[in-house]
Amino acid sequence: MVRKILYLTSLVGVGILGLQLAAWCSEIDTGRDLYLRYCGSCHGKDGKGDGFVSPFLKIELPDLSLLKKNNKGVFPFSGVMASIDGSRVVRGHGDPAMPVWGEVFRKELEPQKYHELTFLLKVKIIAEYISTLQR
Ligand code: HEC
Repeated sequence: MVRKILYLTSLVGVGILGLQLAAWCSEIDTGRDLYLRYCGSCHGKDGKGDGFVSPFLKIELPDLSLLKKNNKGVFPFSGVMASIDGSRVVRGHGDPAMPVWGEVFRKELEPQKYHELTFLLKVKIIAEYISTLQR
């Protein structure tokens, strides 16, 4: 009897965990969505630096689709992640007039569970999306 109860409890537990994970994952957008929402206005939908805000910027936008080519054929994954989260200072991002993305994402996610993990995932899937734009 005790065994049966334990077994049933663990089944319910696994079920709840599954539901929780499914709910959590559905809240995570795809890298493309996130990129278009947060980055496309400047960097353009293909990363070429032709977003609609680009003519108004004082600093020339780097071509994000050439990051791999310009790094001896290796996509600089951690560098891109660092540029997004702000641990690597990018002038165009760290300007006092413009918040560092790390802070924006962290603030948005704060009320959620696992926000630090979700934050990292968000930065990672944006970087992954940028890696698909390489020519
Ligand atoms: C307001 C315009 C703007 C937005 C929005 C923006 N960026 Fe940038 N980004 C820039 C500018 C300007 C530079 C170049 C900075 C410099 O050269 O000092 C840059 C540089 C970069 C770099 C460094 C490229 C290199 O050559 O090493 C990466 C990576 C990058 N941005 C990714 C992103 C991502 C990802 C997002 C969205 C989360 C984003 N940017 C949103 C303006 C923007």
